[in-house]
Amino acid sequence: MWTSLPTALLAFLFLSDPAAARYQRRTITIEACDTTATVVRTSSAGGEFHEKVLASSTPPVVVMSTMTVVPMPVGTFGGVVYSGVSTGTGIPAGIFYSGAASGLGLPSGIFWSGYATGTGSGSPRPTGGVGGNRTHHHPLPVNSTSSVLPIFSLHDTSSFSKQTSIASSSAALSTYIPSPFSSITLKPSSTFVSVTTSKSRSTSTPSTSTSTTSLTSTSATATATPIPFLRGVNLGGWLVLEKWMDSDAFTGAFSNAADQYTFDSISGASSALETHWSTYFTESDIQSLAATGINALRIPIGYWAYNNTGTPYITGADAYLDKAITWARNAGMYVWVDCHGSPGSQNGFDNSGHAGSVNWQTSSNLAASISVLETMAKKYGSLEYADVVVGLEMTNEPISYGNNHFSVTQSWAQEAYTAVKAQVENPGLVVVMHDAFQGATAWTDVAQTLINGGKKTFGIDTHLYQLYTDADNALTQSEHISKACGWSTDLAISNAVMPTYIGEFSAATNVCVNPDGSTTAGTSCSVDGCQCQSGNFDDLNDAMVKQMRMFVEAQLDVFEASSSGYFMWAAKGPGGWGFLNGIEKGVIPNPVTSRKYSSQCSGLVKRESKGWRRWFW
Ligand SMILES: *[C@@H]1O[C@H](CO)[C@@H](O)[C@H](O)[C@H]1NC(C)=O
Ligand SMILES: *[C@@H]1O[C@H](CO)[C@@H](O)[C@H](O)[C@H]1NC(C)=O
Ligand SMILES: *[C@@H]1O[C@H](CO)[C@@H](O)[C@H](O)[C@H]1NC(C)=O
Repeated sequence: MWTSLPTALLAFLFLSDPAAARYQRRTITIEACDTTATVVRTSSAGGEFHEKVLASSTPPVVVMSTMTVVPMPVGTFGGVVYSGVSTGTGIPAGIFYSGAASGLGLPSGIFWSGYATGTGSGSPRPTGGVGGNRTHHHPLPVNSTSSVLPIFSLHDTSSFSKQTSIASSSAALSTYIPSPFSSITLKPSSTFVSVTTSKSRSTSTPSTSTSTTSLTSTSATATATPIPFLRGVNLGGWLVLEKWMDSDAFTGAFSNAADQYTFDSISGASSALETHWSTYFTESDIQSLAATGINALRIPIGYWAYNNTGTPYITGADAYLDKAITWARNAGMYVWVDCHGSPGSQNGFDNSGHAGSVNWQTSSNLAASISVLETMAKKYGSLEYADVVVGLEMTNEPISYGNNHFSVTQSWAQEAYTAVKAQVENPGLVVVMHDAFQGATAWTDVAQTLINGGKKTFGIDTHLYQLYTDADNALTQSEHISKACGWSTDLAISNAVMPTYIGEFSAATNVCVNPDGSTTAGTSCSVDGCQCQSGNFDDLNDAMVKQMRMFVEAQLDVFEASSSGYFMWAAKGPGGWGFLNGIEKGVIPNPVTSRKYSSQCSGLVKRESKGWRRWFW
């Protein structure tokens, strides 16, 4: 690091070159673990100062993502950024002007994208406006132990000349001197995999880094596994009871209980819950899910598992969440911890723990919600879980009417995100917010504020069902399929800004099928031999199974194309709501990526190809 040079020498280098005094000092931030980096000045002639960043790492690494450079504030004398250029003899791909928005005045910076001609695509480009900071994304070569990152040249653009002969061997570079113009800070990156330390995810050993780190400006050593596309199911009805799903728990003394809150208020609930928790899902269920290609579990849990003060709620569910995390790890799956019930009830549905009134948006309940999330974040966002827990959802399905206001939900989400991020060690953990039924795209501004040019760790969860409105219940199955195909556009728009997940969807629609294969809307039908989906699932005929399978496959195609992942509701749900029984019946493809009815949707919009997907996964 250049900072090891005596200050006096640096001062001399700086002062000996009067032109240098025109340049403001800048900081280059590199996000990557186990990396040392030095910024060197390579030449100085005619008002030019060339710098390059030398990065090295031991052992060899696969860097999945990027280096972020926050270079100089653009001043009168700007900066030139050559990205990956060998001679700099091309056409500038862009010019930054300082001062005037119209581009009047002296150019304050020029950059090339791509190679000599400046026409390369997909190459690193600085971003950032006039007078601002620039961010430069540059992936290190796979498995390299050292890399020369693009030259950052400071120019007096009035006498602009081109950089030539950039040496790439470290031997040649050793003659360069540390630059007085820039300093480097290193930040840990989650988007990084060390091939020598990652362990097979089928073992129970976390794959967090065991290598020594040479980061000098931070103490973090996290190296989380990049998040793949999530093909998931919800472990619904387990740690948060839902009567319509849980026929086993709501029996005997508990048959009159309506929800978790009333269930927990009944004497004997503790042992009934233990029985339910220990039998409803077991490790073998998780293995059955994994065998179908499911790689992720969204696990709903209520806030009361972490703090039940002043409520009848019974604690203990978190011990089973912890078991499930271990099972998931053993099966090579990922987990998304979902705070499904918030203090006061965020929606008044039974799935929040307490059906009835919605009292979430009082200042004390909003604060208590954050306080519980901090507890959860500290635990599940720790490095101990970084190989398996990839998401933490802050609340589920807050409604946006009655006692709830969407604007309050949005400001709470920002406050909660900041509080959660302050507790997590795993820098790649995606902190997820449900869209409050306003659509994922209603959150892009919030995401942009929170992400602020950094890693995309704010994610959005949208639930896509087609049986809760009169309009949906008037559709035939082919209209349901068309509607699902139409989700692609908004999902892709949203996913370009923030990781966007379909945290819930199902195979269920209210349709009936006629013997000729045509479908009608509703829960009853009159044609001879027709059958409605609302009937007994086990008795569904082949024609209905085919219709449901087509609907499921169309939805999966859309999600695969345009989002970051999906979670079906629910692993053990009844009828069209069940993943495992859907697999058995043939309603759901097995493996989940296989298709019987491919290409039902035309013109699917692919999720952002050059954005976060490349950097994050
Ligand atoms: C540029 O970055 C520096 C250091 O992070 C920051 O203090 C400054 O406000 C940034 N300037 C702009 C215009 O964003
Ligand atoms: C990186 O190194 C690992 C381990 O030696 C190897 O399996 C992998 O194929 C390498 N990747 C590339 C792109 O060379
Ligand atoms: C638990 O919740 C109560 C009520 O919101 C609060 O007063 C208390 O501080 C919380 N306890 C912890 C350990 O956070």
